[in-house]
Amino acid sequence: MNYKKDFPIFSNIDMTYLDNAATTQRPLCVLEAEKKFYETANANPLRGLYSLAIAATDAYEEAREKVKNFINAKSIKEIIFTRNATEALNLVAYSYGLNNLKAGDEIVVSITAHHSNLLPWQMVARQTGAVLRFIDCESDGSFDKDKIRDIINDKTKIAAIEMVSNVTGREHEYDLIIELVHKVGGIVVLDGAQGVPHMPVDVQKTEADFVAFSGHKMMAAMGIGCLYGKESILENMQPFLSGGEMIEYVTRESATYAELPHKFEAGTVNAGGAVSLGAAIDYMNSVGFDYIVKQEEMLTKMCFDELSKLPEVHIIGGKTAEEHMGIISFTVDGVHPHDIASILDTQNVFIRAGHHCAQPLLKHLGVMSSARASFAFYNTEEDVMRFVDSIRNVRSQMGYGK
Ligand SMILES: Cc1ncc(COP(=O)(O)O)c(C=O)c1O
Repeated sequence: MNYKKDFPIFSNIDMTYLDNAATTQRPLCVLEAEKKFYETANANPLRGLYSLAIAATDAYEEAREKVKNFINAKSIKEIIFTRNATEALNLVAYSYGLNNLKAGDEIVVSITAHHSNLLPWQMVARQTGAVLRFIDCESDGSFDKDKIRDIINDKTKIAAIEMVSNVTGREHEYDLIIELVHKVGGIVVLDGAQGVPHMPVDVQKTEADFVAFSGHKMMAAMGIGCLYGKESILENMQPFLSGGEMIEYVTRESATYAELPHKFEAGTVNAGGAVSLGAAIDYMNSVGFDYIVKQEEMLTKMCFDELSKLPEVHIIGGKTAEEHMGIISFTVDGVHPHDIASILDTQNVFIRAGHHCAQPLLKHLGVMSSARASFAFYNTEEDVMRFVDSIRNVRSQMGYGK
């Protein structure tokens, strides 16, 4: 299937775009949905009583319903729009973490965490006296189940774990973590930034208490993200930000808050972004996760197999393609990852290089930085071959002999 034709940017620029873990491209239907909102339904949602404002509110709330169905949440009260996964994770840290933890409690995080799912918990630990406990990964990026069992104990109040590592592409054992943490009465926050866009997620099945993700990593606009949270927990949490839109009554000294989910959506919301997320979900549903998963697996395997043939290339993490969910980070002997990305850039092959906002992980694995190729279902076998051909020539471009 040629899904690239749905994305105007691929007609405008001849490129191999392999930085999908950072942000995906947007199909025309998503761009048009947002434009249509501003052309036909724009007013400040959730406050106006006139018909245009009601249309804006309806468009915004319709998007919430789509997100709810996409992850199979029980109620729209459990779907909070945020700016991105980072803000969703901070919301839980500030509103739940600071109010429910005390000195000596433990927060379990993983060494593979993206900074967005680490720094908020460092802040909670600092301010409450709670202790951060790390699940360290093995050299292939996997978690040892015995280590998980050792770390989770009666003091565990929160575990904050990413579904899929943005460096190794490994899907983590969050089911086991959820089971163990729930047994000791703690809650689990899943960072779904690299999970939700790439596999079907059913929040009722996973039973995670919170799941955070970003719209821009699944073909929607930048500036819209989502926090799923169990209603019973959200109900008892204090607001994260306060001000307009999130109140019921306000007096000189105090306020009561709006019902869920609006209690957590202070100020004018990003309705255009929400509409684009709703349209992205419609588009992804029309492609279907059967295809998305199969295509991304095929591209990852092809890329993994081709890179594995090159002795100068070292793939970070799992030793089989199946352990990389659409993400392959690697180094090339004698070539700095920034040079790799710059050389590929001259051929319009776009990949990421750096620490991928996961500095503790890179330090743990003994690498300063890496290059990373990450796939979306619209990528093709030609993309993989163009990328691999470029990598094959990187060392000679740097002046090395064969
Ligand atoms: C695993 C993971 N978590 C969180 C984030 C943060 O996402 P955002 O910048 O959209 O908030 C990213 C972004 O790359 C990520 O890969």
